[in-house]
Amino acid sequence: MCGIVGYVGNKDCTRVLLDSLSKLEYRGYDSAGIAVFENSKIKISKTKGRLASLEQKLKREGWINGCCGIGHTRWATHGEPSDVNSHPHASARVSIVHNGIIENYQKIKSFLENNGYEFESQTDTETVAKLLDFYFDGDPIKAIRQTISEIEGSYALGIMFSEFPDTIYAVRKDSPLIVGIGENEAFIASDVPAILKYTRNYYLLEHDEIVVLKDGKAGVFDKHGVHIEKELHTADWDMEAAEKGGYAHFMLKEINEQPTAVKTTISPRITDGMPDLSECGMTKERLAGYRSIYVVACGTAMHAGLVGKYVIEQLARVPVTVDVASEFRYRNPILSAEDLVIVVSQSGETADTLEALRLSKRIGAQTLAIVNVKGSSIAREADMVIYTHAGPEISVASTKAYMVQIAVFYLIAFELAYAKEAITEEECRRLTAALNGIPEIISVVLQQAEQCKYIASKLINAGNLLYIGRGLDYALSMEGSLKLKEISYIHSESYAAGELKHGTISLVTNGMPVVAVATQRELFDKTVSNVKEVKARGATVIFVTHAYKTVESDVADFKIALPTVDDILMPIPAVVPLQLIAYYTSVLKGNDVDKPRNLAKSVTVE
Ligand code: G6P
Repeated sequence: MCGIVGYVGNKDCTRVLLDSLSKLEYRGYDSAGIAVFENSKIKISKTKGRLASLEQKLKREGWINGCCGIGHTRWATHGEPSDVNSHPHASARVSIVHNGIIENYQKIKSFLENNGYEFESQTDTETVAKLLDFYFDGDPIKAIRQTISEIEGSYALGIMFSEFPDTIYAVRKDSPLIVGIGENEAFIASDVPAILKYTRNYYLLEHDEIVVLKDGKAGVFDKHGVHIEKELHTADWDMEAAEKGGYAHFMLKEINEQPTAVKTTISPRITDGMPDLSECGMTKERLAGYRSIYVVACGTAMHAGLVGKYVIEQLARVPVTVDVASEFRYRNPILSAEDLVIVVSQSGETADTLEALRLSKRIGAQTLAIVNVKGSSIAREADMVIYTHAGPEISVASTKAYMVQIAVFYLIAFELAYAKEAITEEECRRLTAALNGIPEIISVVLQQAEQCKYIASKLINAGNLLYIGRGLDYALSMEGSLKLKEISYIHSESYAAGELKHGTISLVTNGMPVVAVATQRELFDKTVSNVKEVKARGATVIFVTHAYKTVESDVADFKIALPTVDDILMPIPAVVPLQLIAYYTSVLKGNDVDKPRNLAKSVTVE
């Protein structure tokens, strides 16, 4: 949801900004722009479209030569994607880039208009540029302090004052911002991958701390203007992790990274063959005390929670409610200190999930975050955090992050079930060993990529699709359907297989593709009956099930054969072909797989 960067140092600033922004395009990509001090004067170049369009514009109209500047890649919130709405936005003496939303911008805009300011864009950001100008009396930090005391909403701001050449100021509230520290150079960025080419060292900026980048160094000041020492963090992601590494797309790379991601996530949490979450403060005693669990998240992370619900309820017999964060926030949830709220987020910055976490804490529930990005807002604010070790996920459509999220849910379910004495130690060990072996199973399923590509070739002309399943397979169908929608733009719905006949089956016509997932052996025959119902009405069925199951031609047109593991673990191998089918459908349709239209990876607005 917009990416911002800033650079001071000795390098060609325009090049650095473009390189860094290219690592943040997953956050939004409908326009891009930079502002650079050239001979002590701010020069701006911005345009609607991708970063590549900005680079072409700079080559066409003249490179901006300087060593200090700010940059932005946008996901439009206020005002359509256009040249004029692109960042940076400027006033007479100030240029800024912004990630977030200024909620009271209309009020500020009216105030500024009454004071003679004119606006050219429809953005909320331009009001901040003009408000900074209004308050600027020669002291940038004072102007920033006055401005942030008036604006409401979320912001990460990179700011340049024309009277202070080769200097960048930055401040944040509820939108992420890190400060990269290199050799005689310093950076600001919305996320770590943006700086990895230059440095792995960074500071995390707290709300309303102000950072000043000058002469290749960064100084951080609190809201009273007092200089503060910050703890230096070192990213454990390297540059290769944020590169495609020979794959055609990040999504394909990330699908293929799943065996390693799961291994790296679960191995440190298994001690002597038993799940061990004590690293995050989750003891057996604590687990035994929970009355119920809420899982709150958005998008794919919420789908991981649905798998978690089935697994926890089945094994631990603890009731689990899964909620979409944007709904949970406003439905006055019934929580107590005996409830555990698990928030799940790859980015750790999703606005609705973050607010759901804050609400749960206010009500008094205990909170646990399953997060991929270290030091992100959700990770910092939750009572307990389990980091998934998926490495950077760049593709907007999430794959490996989902996989490691469900891997963590298995560990939680096993330990909780054991703590509640719902399973024996022996059973807990057996399940943990089975989970430990799952990375190899994923690798086996990945070898079916060609078959998934072939199936995808049969889907590209479909207008509508259904994904069906029962129990865990239904939870999985939701993720399969979402994946396809996100990147192929083919409409699809997921449905509980048994519920189909209560209405939605009326949509099934000759040749309509239906993806049926049937990995739960107890429910297999029931799902087959539902599949026959759609087959009898002309559907083309893609049937995802165990390799050993015989599937007749009156059930399936295509069978995807999975290696057999415990039923409860089957979502792990079963999601892989669903990811690959979505991927290849998007590729074969010629879509921009990693940057699907209208979407952004990190949604930091409500
Ligand atoms: C966006 C992304 C989804 C993601 C969701 C939650 O909508 O496009 O892929 O699942 O946000 O993101 P989070 O970072 O909280 O997991």
